[in-house]
Amino acid sequence: ATLTVRLILNGEPVTLEVPPQAILLDVLRDQLHLGGTKKGCDHGQCGACTVHVDGRAVNACLRLAAMCEGQAITTIEGLAEKGQLHPVQEAFLVHDAYQCGYCSPGQIMSAVALLEDPEAATDDAAVRDAMSGNLCRCGAYRNIQAAIADARR
Ligand code: FES
Repeated sequence: ATLTVRLILNGEPVTLEVPPQAILLDVLRDQLHLGGTKKGCDHGQCGACTVHVDGRAVNACLRLAAMCEGQAITTIEGLAEKGQLHPVQEAFLVHDAYQCGYCSPGQIMSAVALLEDPEAATDDAAVRDAMSGNLCRCGAYRNIQAAIADARR
């Protein structure tokens, strides 16, 4: 049996049929063909799968798709508007914050959720703290931090 789930996905209403146990990350990648959201550890450790659920950064590998009924999901594919990169995406380019790039969508989604939260502190320590769930195997942390510091201005 499947469940019907209605979402606002990257600004568009979408109705899906999903198995009750389907994981949001797998539904995004395999059913909706949105490959920008990456699968790293698949158990909440690396942040590669970070998306926004109602504006908050969430690990899509830890979330059942069926729990997302009525929620707004934004993936890296939905961040640029009208062909214009989000300022955080621009800052990652300027500061060379991509190396292999595998962690980048998750890094960017976490950074955007932080910077767009009017209640969040965004000093350097708060940024480090908020980004601590996003691992980068290449060790590009210095450039990632620089990009976020630039984008928050
Ligand atoms: Fe979800 Fe690593 S794939 S946290």
